[in-house]
Amino acid sequence: MSLDITIPSQDLLRLIDASLNADYTSVRQISNRIASHSASFAPEVSKKIKLAIRRNGVPLRASGYSENLPTDPKSRSALVEEQAWPVCPVFLNESLKKTFESFISSVKNYELLLKNGLTGRMNLLMSGPPGTGKTLVAGHIASALNMPLYVVRLDSLVSSLLGDTAKNIRSVFDFVPEKNGIIFLDEFDAIAKLRNDHHELGELKRVVNTLIQAIDSLDDRAIVIAATNHAELLDRAIWRRFPYRMDFEQPDIDLRAHLWDHFLFQDQGDATTTSALAKISSNLSGADIESISLSARRLSVISDTKLDLQDVAIDSIRSAHPDINILSGEQLNKKELCRTLHQQFRLNQVEILSIIKTSRQTLSTYLKE
Ligand SMILES: Nc1ncnc2c1ncn2[C@@H]1O[C@H](COP(=O)(O)OP(=O)(O)OP(=O)(O)O)[C@@H](O)[C@H]1O
Ligand SMILES: [Mg+2]
Repeated sequence: MSLDITIPSQDLLRLIDASLNADYTSVRQISNRIASHSASFAPEVSKKIKLAIRRNGVPLRASGYSENLPTDPKSRSALVEEQAWPVCPVFLNESLKKTFESFISSVKNYELLLKNGLTGRMNLLMSGPPGTGKTLVAGHIASALNMPLYVVRLDSLVSSLLGDTAKNIRSVFDFVPEKNGIIFLDEFDAIAKLRNDHHELGELKRVVNTLIQAIDSLDDRAIVIAATNHAELLDRAIWRRFPYRMDFEQPDIDLRAHLWDHFLFQDQGDATTTSALAKISSNLSGADIESISLSARRLSVISDTKLDLQDVAIDSIRSAHPDINILSGEQLNKKELCRTLHQQFRLNQVEILSIIKTSRQTLSTYLKE
């Protein structure tokens, strides 16, 4: 396979220019173009470029470079932050995947839709429980569209000074589209929650109205993504501004199997084990599965031992079903554990044996007793 690719001299010059100006939005855009262009004849190189773009998105900022981000005049804190594109893949159920893809293709085919009178606002509202992948999806959308993602810091947006809040909203809604970026209102319920804080109702109404006006005044092509845990707290008038919706739920059994496979086995798991773990983790979010997996992997690396799947199973049952009492360590009652797995979670013997350290014969005796 060839490791050489040809870069048009214009791209190379622009890339050098952008690098020296620390304009990393352009560095990423040009590099991404080169990666897409070389994907067909040098897939390995293309992959490496894409990885490099993702991995190295943030250090420029860490090294002291900062774009001229809009700030709150009083506190001087930034109103938006650029969020790096994610490296982690996202696993979605069929219906969410469909909306995700249709959103991206609508943005990409904007001109065509426009010609046929079919455009609408490119605004997406995501709702659902914590840790189910909303923020991650926003990052994937930005990366698929090759656009920078600007997260609006709602806490700094709402100023204690009357009038500044409206100015802040304006400056964010002016700044981001100018950068050809996506406006991301993450944890959007913070706006609605102001109601319970010391802010008065009139002030909240003003904030919401200014926000609505700001959304309405955007160019049709501008993209706004909002994410919330509590869609029901949002104003109806806000809902109407978001024609695309993704309602996240806790992952179903198939999705959980994929999440275990990815986070615990780095995509190398076997179907029996991942299905066994999926069966016992019914109330866990993607973030929960990730956290249990990573702590098991850390332990295995540090103690230089194999992954302890039995511990993973116990951890998952404990987090997903706090009502079930499972002892661990010295007090572990393996027979009880196997019976619980069999009776309560409907694991068959092969599945139990894939996660519990015991022999087939012992397991049969446990289950027969
Ligand atoms: N569907 C998923 N696919 C892949 N990874 C996931 C998924 N859901 C959660 N994760 C993992 O959990 C982490 C946290 O998810 P994320 O921040 O996107 O959740 P969220 O829905 O935005 O939660 P919150 O409502 O608390 O902001 C992700 O970075 C990822 O590692
Ligand atoms: Mg989030």
